Amino acid sequence: MWKSALSGLIVAAFAIAAFVGAGCATFFGAAICTIDRSGPSAPTVQSPERHKLYVGAGAPAPYRDKQNPQAASIGNVIEGARLYDLRCAVCHGMMGVGDGDAGATLDTRPADLGRSLGQPLYKDDFFYWSISEGGSAFGTDMPPFKSDLTDREIWRILTFMRAAFSEQQPQPEARPNAPP
Ligand code: HEC
Repeated sequence: MWKSALSGLIVAAFAIAAFVGAGCATFFGAAICTIDRSGPSAPTVQSPERHKLYVGAGAPAPYRDKQNPQAASIGNVIEGARLYDLRCAVCHGMMGVGDGDAGATLDTRPADLGRSLGQPLYKDDFFYWSISEGGSAFGTDMPPFKSDLTDREIWRILTFMRAAFSEQQPQPEARPNAPP
């Protein structure tokens, strides 16, 4: 009995791995879809306080329950990719796993964006709020973008991130931030 359950799990793990690999390759080409998830640039878990607040109380007003009005059209995804590359990749890394050069020395490492994007619990309002307000409420270096980017630009970045990063779930090997 446990043996068949175990082999079922193994088959499921392979199926997920195959889907994850194929999804990224379809979008970006195989060359940049090989992410090194070991060593010093391995993905980190997110700021725990941000997640505790969202799961317990939801996103604060005026972000709560807001949904992305920007369709996942090719134009929006490309514009979102351009903005992500310009404003976010320096910390979160090209593939969103949190391995950008500027993030390496921060106390709370940049979040691995694919983790939350891949969890249905984390809705559009989580990202809209996080990107707009940044991390000052949690004492992190995530910058606030609300006066720097328009709402439309923030939503287009989310459109791009959902198209490019969500499928990177699951990542059980993520390690916690190093203690201070
Ligand atoms: C200076 C480095 C830096 C830049 C630039 C940056 N971030 Fe962050 N970001 C962080 C850090 C550090 C965290 C983790 C701490 C936190 O959640 O406040 C984070 C967290 C987040 C989170 C919360 C994710 C989660 O699951 O916990 C989102 C969403 C996010 N960033 C999106 C963006 C986007 C989109 C951009 C570009 C518009 C961006 N960030 C630019 C450093 C950065």
